[in-house]
Amino acid sequence: MTQYILEIAYLIASITFIIGLKMMSNPKKARQGNLIAAAGMTIAIIGTIFLYSKEGLTSRDNIKMILIFGGIAAGTIIGWLTAKKVQMTKMPELVSMFNGMGGACAALIGLMEFHHSVGQTSTMITVLAGMIIGSVSFSGSIIAYLKLNGAMAKPIRLPKYNIINTIVMFALFAFAAYVVVSGTDSSTMLYLLFAAALFYGILFVIPIGGADMPVVISLLNSFTGLAAAFGGFLYDNKVMLTGGILVGSAGTLLTIVMCKAMNRSLFSVIFGSFGGTTAAADGAEVAGSIKDISTTDVAVLMNYSKRVVIVPGYGLAVAQAQHIIHELELLLEERGVEVKYAIHPVAGRMPGHMNVLLAESNVDYGKMVEMDEINSEFEQTDVVLVVGANDVVNPAAKTDPSSPIYGMPILDVEKAKHIIVNKRSMSAGYAGIENLLFYDPKTSMFFGDAKKALTALVAELKTM
Ligand code: TAP
Repeated sequence: MTQYILEIAYLIASITFIIGLKMMSNPKKARQGNLIAAAGMTIAIIGTIFLYSKEGLTSRDNIKMILIFGGIAAGTIIGWLTAKKVQMTKMPELVSMFNGMGGACAALIGLMEFHHSVGQTSTMITVLAGMIIGSVSFSGSIIAYLKLNGAMAKPIRLPKYNIINTIVMFALFAFAAYVVVSGTDSSTMLYLLFAAALFYGILFVIPIGGADMPVVISLLNSFTGLAAAFGGFLYDNKVMLTGGILVGSAGTLLTIVMCKAMNRSLFSVIFGSFGGTTAAADGAEVAGSIKDISTTDVAVLMNYSKRVVIVPGYGLAVAQAQHIIHELELLLEERGVEVKYAIHPVAGRMPGHMNVLLAESNVDYGKMVEMDEINSEFEQTDVVLVVGANDVVNPAAKTDPSSPIYGMPILDVEKAKHIIVNKRSMSAGYAGIENLLFYDPKTSMFFGDAKKALTALVAELKTM
């Protein structure tokens, strides 16, 4: 009987995952979707703990229960506090860390189940696949975390690193195949394989630089889903399998979308030849000079425009200027100016970062226009206001083959009649490269923190 109740609990949990994931595609319903999926996960965890044991609780099980609930309590407290305290701009680091924890769990399952699976070829393949993929995802995600928080900002590239990475990857497969075929139950072999997988995860992510991190982050996400799905196979646990497949396939789809956004092929991602241009970070030669503009001049220019396009970037999130930018938009529209937002797929530090940020201040979804659509409109735009964006408007992506972002589609803001760039200084963006847009004769630099500068701009506009 308990087995049937458990199956029903797993079915309910699986359905909540699917509904939750579907709801996450809409910023308005995403929060609710997250809660529904979390409720399903709670049902699955409680069901597994209380209904899985068929023989009833023994005194040994009581000790296990204390350990399980102790672990759950510690994890809940740490997870809750971290998620509560994290700033919006640090979310990508948190997501990377959580993803790494998922990978670590899958790797631990492999380490625990290895000795129980010796002599059963198909089970051993499942155990080792979950362990290897989980370990790569774990160590890779930790490196991604360090890169995102700036502790490892510059890519580390060994000579011929693409070839080295590919050799290490095939050596890892060969080692795993040997462990399966030889039927060994040696712990030394197991830990060597585990260490090799962790090492490959590090090698895989350290050379990634420039602006290529979005692809790697979503790829690691799909790895964790795949590793969890192997755990589901191993235990014949439907909810683990469903959850793993959903994360794995969502991560894979996101990887494809990110590859398209970065104009990289999936093959070159997997075989390590991307992010491969070694152009000096400070790259392009600077010709021309910069011209700055006062708040009053920006206000006049915008007030007398017909069409304005705002390009939000990472700096908008840092400054938390989403509310004031919405106020600016409403003020301009009151005066008959048409305002749109140009959304680059990798602006900010996580997929959909700008959409989520602008949705927070109730910007109409219809005004957020995707890159492919808005690019044809820049020529008819009077003023482009770039706020805290840099790499996503860098023309080097189109003109400089030695640039680390060469080939990445960008917003063609240089086609507009006037370009106003708001940022605090001449510092580079995430890719660490110079941006010749700032030296374009049509560009004026509107220096300052986005929130302060836009607040002053709104105040100035109100006087006109
Ligand atoms: P970035 O190229 O990172 O540029 C952000 C700019 O904002 C900086 O140049 C900075 O200049 C400015 N800034 C920082 N704080 C500011 C503030 N308080 N007020 C005004 N400006 C401020 O941003 P982007 O154009 O959005 O490009 C995103 C980059 O991140 C891409 O290279 C992308 O590949 C990478 N990335 C994206 C993701 C995803 S999935 N979206 C994930 C990982 C990496 P100052 O310091 O001079 O102010």
